[in-house]
Amino acid sequence: MLIDPFARKISYVRVSVTDRCDFRCVYCMAENMTFLPKAELLTLEELDRLCSTLVAMGVRKLRLTGGEPLVRRDVMLLIESLGRHLKTGDLDELTVTTNGSQLARHAEGLARAGVRRINVSLDTMDPAKFLAITRWGKYDKVMAGIQAAKEAGLAIKINAVALKGVNEDEIDDMVAWCGGQGFDLTLIETMPLGDIDGDRTEQYLPLSLVRARLEKRWTLSDLDYKTGGPARYVQVAETGGRIGFITPMTHNFCESCNRVRVTCTGTMYMCLGQEDAVDLRTPLRSSEGNIALEQAIRDGIARKPKGHDFIIDRRRKVPSVSRHMSVTGG
Ligand code: GTP
Ligand code: 5AD
Ligand code: SF4
Repeated sequence: MLIDPFARKISYVRVSVTDRCDFRCVYCMAENMTFLPKAELLTLEELDRLCSTLVAMGVRKLRLTGGEPLVRRDVMLLIESLGRHLKTGDLDELTVTTNGSQLARHAEGLARAGVRRINVSLDTMDPAKFLAITRWGKYDKVMAGIQAAKEAGLAIKINAVALKGVNEDEIDDMVAWCGGQGFDLTLIETMPLGDIDGDRTEQYLPLSLVRARLEKRWTLSDLDYKTGGPARYVQVAETGGRIGFITPMTHNFCESCNRVRVTCTGTMYMCLGQEDAVDLRTPLRSSEGNIALEQAIRDGIARKPKGHDFIIDRRRKVPSVSRHMSVTGG
């Protein structure tokens, strides 16, 4: 079992399998991004060994993220291989956060590998806005991907970053659509991670405000439901669906943090909002056994900070954390 200095059990690891993405969402990336040279990446075999070591050390939930995890070549081989830990009962959940662009071709494979639930990022249901937000995304392809995932029997959670003046007028429609489709909807506050081309203060929309507005139209009641992530859920009486709120800015949830992140180069970040990290690639490559790797993981967990120091403020022009979400993996 992995326990951090604040007595939090670390049972959830988010693995960014690539920093690349086929979209350029305005709150996430600049249009011109420099990605890691492919030679820097851990191989799929190394990622498997790293994840399997974490599972052996007590991690119960793995989420593959990115960038866009499904654009990494042969990523399905990794997912199929990791599925073995579900069969043995060593892992409770193997899941993916995706932009949906490659879902149509991978949905069935995901279900076959033992994935039960996926999170799909979709900030708007207006095709023109979708293009404006993602810069490069194809709305119809994502919608087809979501339907393919539904048909493959995967439970779906739609993630929408709440953006002032962009999708705030659409949130009611998304609640209605998700409710009708049987999808959960999670709303997210934008976080100050990495340089983007625009100004984050113009994008930031506090979810306390969104919730107050939603309550004018919908009957919301707090739920105890937990998925292991930071969202706090409410039930929508009218649709029978759930809405999750991820509020790193207005309501810090760090005291219940149960997770660390591993990047595609094998760097473990103990907090999304802090710079400290440990290199797992060197111990991974230094020997065939896992003793050095396990020690490096323990050393990292022993340094896990209490929480983030995110600030979105007009006077502060630099992001709180210089790396993009796509590097750390959401
Ligand atoms: P489930 O609860 O398993 O559905 O996962 P999740 O909501 O944690 O995962 P998802 O990949 O859908 O992430 C949704 C959003 O939550 C992303 O914007 C993440 O960056 C954010 N998020 C996830 N974990 C953390 C965290 O530890 N700290 C902060 N500040 N944000 C997080
Ligand atoms: N703040 C909040 N959420 C972000 N995401 C990407 N960048 C940011 C940011 N700066 C979201 C994506 C996706 C999830 C993994 O992270 O939209 O839903
Ligand atoms: Fe955990 Fe850091 Fe996220 Fe806080 S900001 S919940 S400590 S990863």
